[in-house]
Formats: sequence, structure tokens, C-alpha cells
Amino acid sequence: MRTQVGIIGAGPAGLLLSQLLHLKGIDTVVLERRSRDYVLGRIRAGVLEQGMVDLLTEARVGERLAREALIHEGMELSFAGQRHRIDLKGLTDGKVVTVYGQTEVTKDLMDARDGLGGKLVYQAEEVRPHDFDGDRPRLTYRKDGVDHDIVCDYIAGCDGYHGVSRRSVPQGSLKTYERVYPLGWLGVLSETPPVNHELIYNRHDRGFALCAMRSHTRSRYYIQCAYDDDVAAWSDDRFWDELRRRLTKDTAEALQTGPSIEKSIAPLRSFVAEPLRFGRLFLAGDAAHIMPPTGAKGLNLAASDIYFLSRALIAYYDSGRVDLLETYSEKALRRVWKAQRFSWWMTSMLHRFPDSSAYDHRVQLAELEYVTSSHAAATALAENYVGLPYE
Ligand code: FAD
Ligand code: PHB
Repeated sequence: MRTQVGIIGAGPAGLLLSQLLHLKGIDTVVLERRSRDYVLGRIRAGVLEQGMVDLLTEARVGERLAREALIHEGMELSFAGQRHRIDLKGLTDGKVVTVYGQTEVTKDLMDARDGLGGKLVYQAEEVRPHDFDGDRPRLTYRKDGVDHDIVCDYIAGCDGYHGVSRRSVPQGSLKTYERVYPLGWLGVLSETPPVNHELIYNRHDRGFALCAMRSHTRSRYYIQCAYDDDVAAWSDDRFWDELRRRLTKDTAEALQTGPSIEKSIAPLRSFVAEPLRFGRLFLAGDAAHIMPPTGAKGLNLAASDIYFLSRALIAYYDSGRVDLLETYSEKALRRVWKAQRFSWWMTSMLHRFPDSSAYDHRVQLAELEYVTSSHAAATALAENYVGLPYE
């Protein structure tokens, strides 16, 4: 088989790239290790920047989003028993964030790919990129016991943090940066109305808590836990009790609880691999970088990587230009590192760290008081939260 761009991974990054290229007449094949249902069952991000919404619209998957998503003009920080609103819209000349689950984004992209006859192989085993340092890279995989070989012009590694793409790059060509936090997030999804119409990021002496949502009737809550905590140790009642303790009194009283429909623990980790290009292999999204979810940036960075990569590939197929392919890594990484900084800052300001002292706690509170009382500091938070420009 032959294709122009071989894509590993059918998460948001791989599907969005495939869709954007297809709309420009560029042939792609997407190889995904899991089944479609498994990919759709993973509950992850919920907050989209305007740049990502615009890119989804350009990819012709913006229709249901425009109908069903919630537009948020602000978010809240809660600490020392008080809630404080950050006026995102007012502080950023009218920018807002869009609440629409990653599951919905993925479903819309999968439906669009199916509608256009996109080539997607689910449950592809032993996917491997080969010869990407030459001009005839290949992808191999096995499906239902049969081996397949695809000759490509380029390969996009969109296979997430645990994928095969980054691991296929020769040792020594890759520089990695990492910070592991001794923390996890325990998340619960429930069919209950959200406690507030906007997100609340709560700093509490018992640990961080986040009140988020997917719709007017479906809530997503997180509490900070130990990185090695066992989800089986958290009954729904234990979760709700602990969450209530970390909210302000009024918020705890207003909280409506119900059975969890999903419950999982995610460890907090920051990681960046550089560069994002090795010959004819490009890394994008979580395959190259991850960060704690506190800044709501992971999915949005996967989208901005795909923005740069899709434009570079389209310029190549349109007019033979290679300059954008050559600068992809540098451009995407500039935005990645700013989001890394923001996620690290939000994480440090809002979590309780096992080794932190009384002094550290007071500095955290001073930081939160500053952010919620200074126009300049609130603006810095807001412009990062709504998303920095793509260029
Ligand atoms: P993935 O979604 O990981 O997709 C990679 C795909 O590749 C997967 O389908 C995988 O099965 C497949 N794959 C892996 N290995 C192989 C292989 N060898 N062969 C073939 N296929 C393979 N981000 C935000 O922007 N906002 C948020 O609010 C937010 N909240 C989050 C909350 C939680 C609890 C978590 C865990 C993450 C959150 N994120 C958030 C991060 C966001 O979910 C990720 O950044 C996003 O999924 C990255 O998309 P991706 O397509 O790069 O990778
Ligand atoms: C979510 O809705 O799952 C979510 C929202 C904001 C975050 C992280 C996760 O910062």
C-alpha cells in the first residue's frame, strides 16, 4: 500500500491532521492500536481554546460543537474560604474558552473521517515507523494476523505519551526534559448539574480540587490524590466527602452528588522531547509533550502542533515548499514551552505538595491574593488560560 502521509494514533491530534489534509486532497492512512470504542471511552480534557475551536471549524467538525458547547467568559479561583472570579473575557479583549469534551471532539472527527471515506485502521498491532531518515519511509503493522506495509512520503507520530513514534527515534537524537510531581488527580464524571456555571479551581490545605463540567447536566470533578493512590480505595461517598471538604462552605452546600459514571486517576507529569522532527518523521501532541492538566493545555497544544504541521504539509504538496516543514519543530515548541510554564505555575500555585513548609503555604496564598487583586496579574493568567496566539 502507499499513502502520502502515514499517521500513527487516532487521538485528537492524528484525526485532526488526517481530516485537515484530506480536505486539501492529501491522502492519509491512520493506524490506531485500540478499538474505536476504547478511544471514545477515555475521559480526558474539557476546555478548548478559541484557536482549537477555529481549527475544528476549518476541519468541518464545528457544527455540533457550535450547537452544544458551553461558552465560558470567566473562571474562578477559590482559596482561604473565598471564591474569586477571573473575568477572562474582560481581561483579554473579548476572548473566551469553550467547554466541550475531548470525547465529543474525537467522535466528531471520527464521524467526519468516516463520512469522507477516510482510511482508519483500528486495532492495528505492532505499528512501527521505518526508514524515516531516508526519502522512502514506511509503516508496518499487523491486523488480524496479516502483516501490512505502507510506503509514505511522511510519517506523523500522533500516538500519545506511551506511543511507539518517539521511542523509534535513535538514542542521542532526542533531548528530553521532565518533571514528575508526587501527585495525581482523581477524576469523577457524574450525571449531575455542575455546582457552578463556570470552572472553580480550589486551593485547600487538604489539597487541590477542580469543579468542571461537560454540559448543564453532566459534571466533572477532580481532587488531588497521591500519585500511587488506588482508584478502588475511593468509593463514590468517599470522593464526594473529600471534595466537599475542599470547597467553600456555600459551594459544598450547593454540590449535587450522584453515582459516578467514570472514575480514574491520572499522575501529574511534565515532559518535552526535542526536536519534533527526525527526517521524515514528525511528532505532535502528547507523543512529544505532556503536562499537568491544571492549565487545561494538553489537548490545545495537540491542536496547535497540528495547525503548524498541517500548514507545513499542505505548503509542501501545494508548491513543493519545504521551509515550513523545516521550521515546524521550532515554531510548535515555542508555544509548547509557554504552555509548560503556565501549567507548572498553575500546578505550583494550587496544589498541596508533600514536602511543602508553612512558609511555602503562605507564599501560595500571597500569590493567589495577588492574582485575584492585581489587574496585571489577573491579565497574565487570563491571556494564558484562553490561549496564546498560534504564530
Ligand atoms: P492521545 O489522545 O493520547 O492519542 C494518541 C492515540 O494513539 C491513542 O488513541 C492511542 O491509543 C494511540 N496509540 C498509542 N500507541 C500507539 C501505537 N503504538 N500504535 C498505534 N496507535 C497508538 N488537555 C486540555 O487541553 N484541556 C484539559 O482540560 C485537559 N484535561 C485533561 C484531564 C485529564 C484527566 C487528562 C489525563 C488529560 C487532560 N488533558 C487536557 C490532556 C489531553 O487529554 C491530551 O493532551 C490529549 O489527549 C492529546 O491528544 P493526542 O492526540 O496527542 O494523544
Ligand atoms: C476537564 O473538564 O476535564 C478539565 C477542565 C479543566 C482542567 C482540567 C480538566 O484544567
